[in-house]
Amino acid sequence: MLYDLYGCALSTSSRPAAAKFDQALRQIRTYHGDPIATLDAALEDDGQFGLAWITRAVVLAQMTDRLFADEVTRSLRAARACELDDRERAHLAGATRWAEGQMVASTATFARIAQENPRDALAVQIAHAGCFFTGQQFELRDIPFAALRAHGPGDEARHAILGMAAFGLEECGDYARAEALGREAIELEPLDAWAAHAVAHVHEMRGDIDQGRDWLDRTSQGWSQDCGFGYHNWWHLALLHLDAQDPKAALALYDERIRPNDEANIALEMLDASALLWRLYLEGVDTGDRFARLARAWELKAEDGVLAFNDLHAVMAFIGADQHALAERSLHAMRRTAQEQGDNALMTSAIGLPLAEGFVAFGAGRHAEAVEKIMRVRGQAQRFGGSHAQRDVLPLTALHAAVRGGMRATAEALAAERLAHKPQSPWAGRLARYAAATDASQRVAAE
Ligand SMILES: [Fe+2]
Repeated sequence: MLYDLYGCALSTSSRPAAAKFDQALRQIRTYHGDPIATLDAALEDDGQFGLAWITRAVVLAQMTDRLFADEVTRSLRAARACELDDRERAHLAGATRWAEGQMVASTATFARIAQENPRDALAVQIAHAGCFFTGQQFELRDIPFAALRAHGPGDEARHAILGMAAFGLEECGDYARAEALGREAIELEPLDAWAAHAVAHVHEMRGDIDQGRDWLDRTSQGWSQDCGFGYHNWWHLALLHLDAQDPKAALALYDERIRPNDEANIALEMLDASALLWRLYLEGVDTGDRFARLARAWELKAEDGVLAFNDLHAVMAFIGADQHALAERSLHAMRRTAQEQGDNALMTSAIGLPLAEGFVAFGAGRHAEAVEKIMRVRGQAQRFGGSHAQRDVLPLTALHAAVRGGMRATAEALAAERLAHKPQSPWAGRLARYAAATDASQRVAAE
C-alpha cells in the first residue's frame, strides 16, 4: 500500500506515480507550477491511478470554465474504470457532482471527506474552493479550522490550512485573527499564494492601503513567478493603487500582470481584468481600448452559462466596450440558464441576472433602474460566490448610479456605510464627497 505525502492511502502500486501525485499536491497547495501536467506524468506511470484522474477532473472543473469541460468528462470516465478505496470513491462522487453543476452538493461531499480524513488536505482545499464559489462564508472558515486538528506544527500542509482559515476568517469579518493566521502561514511557506491573498483581503476590507501595498510588495516574491494565482494578487494590489488615487499604477499592473496577453482565455483571469476596468470606468478613467480587447475574449464565452459570477463580469466588459448587442446576448443566455437545473441556474435567477440587468441599465444611463436592481439583491449576493472585495463592485456601481441619477440620499447612504467600514480609505473619502455633491435636480426616481 502506498500513501500520499499527507498519509492518505492511494490505490496505485507505482512509486513513481505516487511521487508525482505528491508533487501535484504541493503545486495545488501553493498554486504553483502546472499540476495538470504533473498529474498527466503520474498517469503515464500508472494509467489506472484513479485519484490522479479524479484530481485532474476536479481541479479543471473548479476553473469554472467551459473550456475544460471535455477534459473533465474524459478524466471522470477514466477514473470510473479504476479501482478505488472508500475515500477515493468519495472524491469521485464529489468531482462528478461539481462536473454536473451540483456545486453545493460537491462542496458538501469534499467537506465530509475532510471531516472523516482531516489529513486529506486536498479535500480540505477543494471544499474550501467550493465554499468560495458557492458563497458559504462560515464553511470557508470552519472546514479548515476542523482540519487544523490534524496538521500540527511541523506538518507539511499546516501553512495551507492556516491560509485557508485566514481567508475564511476574513470573509467572516474577523480581521485580526485572519491577519495573524495568514502571516503565520506565510512564515511557514512564503510560496503560499492563498495565504498572502487572505492578508491582502484584510487590508482591502479595512482600507489599510499602505499596509496592504507593503504586504503585497513584500510577499510578491512568493507568488509572482510560475504561480497560477499571481494575477489575482496583482489585482488586489491594483485595487489598493486605485484607492490611493493612482490609476496609472493600476493600469500598469493591468497591462503587465493582470491582462498581459489579449489571447488568454481563462475565465477566472478575465474576470479580474473586467473587475478592474469596471472600477476605472466608474471613476471616469480613460482605459483606452482595453475594454474592447477584453470583450473580444469574453465574446467566446458570452453564452457559456457556467457561473453567473463570470457572466456578470463578461457583461461589464461588453458594456465598457460599448458592445451592447453582446451584453444583450449575455442577458439572453442568462435568462435561458435561469430556467435550467443545477446550482448555477439558481445563482443566475436569484442574483446574477438581476445584477447583469442592473449593470446594463447603468451602461444605458437608466440610473434609477440600476440602483433598484443592484440594491434588491445586494444583501444576498454572496449566494453567487466570490469575495466581499469582489462583490464590492455592487454598492460601488449603485453609488455611482445614484449620484448620476440625482438620488442624493441613496448615494450618501452608500458612501456613509463605506466610510464606516474604511475610515482611513482615501477612496471612501472621495466617494463621500462625490455623493454629497449629488445634483438632486437630476433626480430620476422618488426617494
Ligand atoms: Fe481576492
